[in-house]
Amino acid sequence: MTFTLPDLPYAYDALQPYMSKETLEFHHDKHHKAYVDTGNNLLKGSELEGKSVEEIVKASYGKNQPLFNNAGQHYNHIHFWQWMKPNGGGAIPGSIEKRIESDLGGVEKFKADFVQAGIGQFGSGWAWLAVKNGKLEIMKTPNGENPLVHGAEPILGVDVWEHSYYIDYRNRRPDYLKAFIENLVNWEHVEEMLSKTA
Ligand SMILES: [Fe+2]
Repeated sequence: MTFTLPDLPYAYDALQPYMSKETLEFHHDKHHKAYVDTGNNLLKGSELEGKSVEEIVKASYGKNQPLFNNAGQHYNHIHFWQWMKPNGGGAIPGSIEKRIESDLGGVEKFKADFVQAGIGQFGSGWAWLAVKNGKLEIMKTPNGENPLVHGAEPILGVDVWEHSYYIDYRNRRPDYLKAFIENLVNWEHVEEMLSKTA
């Protein structure tokens, strides 16, 4: 199979009280699994079978919408689990902080703009911190889209589909986004992705 469902990098209850065990059970075991299974079915017999997730995301964009939806969501969720950790948030590593200060007007402005991107994404989608043309940029995308198909490289993303927060926060998407940035972000994974960008 081309796509495989990764295990969560922590226990299902490890992100409480900011993200519940029930949310992670549904989100990882049902939603992410469905993207993996549907994506694999759609890949069967196609020339993209066996390619990397990134290659499939880019190659299917604008050409094969059902495959793109599932491949995009698979890529997004692989990283989403790693973009969080227990006792996350806190101080931003110096290498990222410097870039945030020069490209995005400082840490507080970055946090406010990132949360606002998530609030402003109408319906399902994602808010991002990405690198485009060598500079950090805040982006938002609908559904399964991500910065890879907009000439950018994502280094942090937050899922704003209702399945990501409705059990814990009901309709309070802003509270979920604030908890994500202040208490859940795994800055080490962000730093690792930033180090791999061009
Ligand atoms: Fe999701």
